[in-house]
Amino acid sequence: MFLRTLSGRFLGLTILFVMIAEVLIFVPSVARFRLDYLQNRLDLAQLAALAALSREETELPAEMRRELLDTADVMIVVLMRNGVRELALADEMPGRPAATYDIRDPSAWDLVKGAGRVFLTPGDRVIRVIGQTRKGTEGVVDVVLQEAPLRAALMDYGLRIFYLSLVISAATAALLFIAVQFLIVGPINRVIAHMVAYRDDPEDTTRIIAPKSGTQELLDAENALHDLEVRLTSALRQKERLAALGRAVAKISHDLRNMLTTAQLLADSLETIENPKVRRIAPKLVKSLSRAVSLCDRTLTFGKAEEPAPELEQISLHDLVCEVVENERQTTNTRLVEIRSEVSPDVMVRADAEQLFRVLSNLIRNSAQAIAASGQAGSVRVEASQQDGRTFIRVADTGPGLPPKARDNLFKPFQGGARQGGNGLGLVIADEIIRGHGGTLALEVSDENGTVFAISLPAE
Ligand SMILES: Nc1ncnc2c1ncn2[C@@H]1O[C@H](COP(=O)(O)OP(=O)(O)OP(=O)(O)O)[C@@H](O)[C@H]1O
Ligand SMILES: [Mg+2]
Repeated sequence: MFLRTLSGRFLGLTILFVMIAEVLIFVPSVARFRLDYLQNRLDLAQLAALAALSREETELPAEMRRELLDTADVMIVVLMRNGVRELALADEMPGRPAATYDIRDPSAWDLVKGAGRVFLTPGDRVIRVIGQTRKGTEGVVDVVLQEAPLRAALMDYGLRIFYLSLVISAATAALLFIAVQFLIVGPINRVIAHMVAYRDDPEDTTRIIAPKSGTQELLDAENALHDLEVRLTSALRQKERLAALGRAVAKISHDLRNMLTTAQLLADSLETIENPKVRRIAPKLVKSLSRAVSLCDRTLTFGKAEEPAPELEQISLHDLVCEVVENERQTTNTRLVEIRSEVSPDVMVRADAEQLFRVLSNLIRNSAQAIAASGQAGSVRVEASQQDGRTFIRVADTGPGLPPKARDNLFKPFQGGARQGGNGLGLVIADEIIRGHGGTLALEVSDENGTVFAISLPAE
């Protein structure tokens, strides 16, 4: 689990990398250590040989010879001076040496190989080493010695380096671990804590992160998060305000409708008064009051956010359209606007009759209103066709086409209204109802020659 955290991975990788670096240092230093060790033996052997050779006439006593050889830690010393080879000191013959190493001008590879052999060859070998004599003399020292002490010294040295590397890598890893905690993990945790706090209450501006990281990348991340949170918070606040406004409008509409209904009843009774002036005005008053009541009704319906799910049944589209057309003619100036149905009597459709009635009524009324407002005579036509079980209903008019404002805000509540006294809700409600049926409502054509809205309803 720890290895899955950023700090854990960093710690593991640091130890690994430091160990690799230590191995790269270890190999050459062990090779160098062996070279120094052998050169040291040669130097001591040279001194011992010089001491032995200085007594030319008499044989060296046995203990003296032993002591000199022990001091140099070699078994045989041969000195070559001025091209003459002289056996200076020798123990009993140890047998043929297992290997010969000439360290006068060794390559790096030879040194590494030689050091490797010391570790890898088992048993106590006897080896021969040839090297240069020390300054002052131009000669060659040639010794035979046992490898065991060299191996012991090399092992000792290797272990010391190994322990040192362990300490160094542990210390480096610990320091890096602390640095990573401080520079990366800490700031990341801070950002996470902010996100969590913000998530719990996104409308509280005090929870918006204040960018202050010292690391550029983290600072960029914090800045981006800050912008995001600022925008989100203000969007949420705006939504909240709109929702509150919506609730207020719903309440007002509700009570206003009740008041208007009362006024409507009173206005109705005005019609019975014989006064000619009152007789002329009363119908207009009734009409505008009923328009106001219907606006309240629609606002309330819209405030419910969604239309109820349609109650689907098989209905005759012909009968329904006839009913709507008949109804719309009542409120339309029929001298200017002709409304007709071209739906054949056999067209059946699966829909909620009440809801589809409202959709068609909205579309036809929009057309009639547009034509009437243009002042030129025109017609509204409803037609239907069926294909692969789908039903297509078109409401086409010869009116002036949708104004740009309505076209740009098609199906957006309150925004598309470009008609005097319109609310910009009719098309939104129609679209919502048709979508509730699993169908689509689309503006098919709209230009100076007229407008066509097309409804497509699925078979099921
Ligand atoms: N057939 C049409 N021809 C021309 N303009 C149209 C037509 N249908 C809709 N419009 C335009 O689109 C606008 C939006 O129509 P919508 O029915 O959504 O709202 P409205 O008629 O203004 O108000 P209401 O909510 O009372 O229906 C209208 O104001 C009108 O300008
Ligand atoms: Mg309308």
